[in-house]
Amino acid sequence: MKRFDSAKLAVLTGGGTGMGRELARQLSKEGCHVAICDVSLENMEQTRALCLESAPDGTRVSIFEADVSSLEQMFAFRDAVARAHNASCIHLLFNNAGIAGGSSFVQGDPVDWEKTFAVCWGGVYNGCRAFLPLLLASPEGHVVNTSSVNGFWASLGPRSANTAYSAAKFAVKGFSEALLGDFRNNAPHLKVSLVMPGHIGTSIVSNTARVLGQPEPKDLPPEEVERVRKQMAELGADMTGMSDDDVRRALQQRMDDFRTKAPLSAADAASQILDGVRKGRWRILVGDDARVLDELVRADPENAYEDSFMELLRARTPWDLGV
Ligand SMILES: NC(=O)c1ccc[n+]([C@@H]2O[C@H](COP(=O)([O-])OP(=O)(O)OC[C@H]3O[C@@H](n4cnc5c(N)ncnc54)[C@H](O)[C@@H]3O)[C@@H](O)[C@H]2O)c1
Repeated sequence: MKRFDSAKLAVLTGGGTGMGRELARQLSKEGCHVAICDVSLENMEQTRALCLESAPDGTRVSIFEADVSSLEQMFAFRDAVARAHNASCIHLLFNNAGIAGGSSFVQGDPVDWEKTFAVCWGGVYNGCRAFLPLLLASPEGHVVNTSSVNGFWASLGPRSANTAYSAAKFAVKGFSEALLGDFRNNAPHLKVSLVMPGHIGTSIVSNTARVLGQPEPKDLPPEEVERVRKQMAELGADMTGMSDDDVRRALQQRMDDFRTKAPLSAADAASQILDGVRKGRWRILVGDDARVLDELVRADPENAYEDSFMELLRARTPWDLGV
């Protein structure tokens, strides 16, 4: 799809903040109508206001509260989109919503694990399932599924676990690649792109805590502080003499650093995604770190989870998530 103009309607999940918000802003700036869902109405209202500041007159930006992990809510979102935009088809579907979490399969809470998997994989499945009829009804349609570098490298570094997120993002990659052939054979007017970002500066860490119902760092109870203290020590941080409040502040700092010290902003990431869609690319690596990781994993998959791999990675990118 070459143009995102006023003849197009884009549906976007997780448009409350981060890359979803920036995708909505850039699409609407070109005149494309946008329908957003998220679990935060307040954040979506801000996104809509930002979109309307720069969108041409007549551009419609609708918002709807829905949890992508619920197929029922995604059907309700689809019906709301059809009503709000008086639409019998859509042209773009961005399955972007996601959370982190569900790190350790061994030690973690199974409820958190299943929620992360349900949002990151279920969200993509439910989005495609709910909106397929409106895509099929379109003269040309494009599905853009957000995976991650964790869709081909199931790690953040050898000292930490990342099981639910990686399992879900691998599923998104497998499904999207399989859809390429399915669309080619059964719906040739539809295309699919798989988005694999590296580290992008967003609030995904704090948003994850909110979705999983976890307290903010400043409110962490003492037993949770102990868990964080142990985890940080295992990751090599010097915790000598740190009080509970010091640990809480250090955790908050890590969350802030994820957003402020990333090599790529959410706005630049959204531009790379939209460029990839315009060029008809099915494989969209976002950021230099993602491109380097892709190259290194392909070159030596057997060693991808070893310390020596991290040395190679860090020699070529500023990859540092503190894990
Ligand atoms: N930030 C990164 O470094 C990075 C890297 C690779 C992939 N990703 C992926 O990019 C996508 C966007 O993430 P982001 O970094 O912009 O994060 P973000 O937290 O800023 O944005 C994600 C949005 O999804 C919403 N959301 C969360 N759970 C939801 C649910 N169940 N239903 C509906 N909406 C929900 C959040 O409220 C938020 O507005 C995610 O799929 C994420 O996994 C992010």
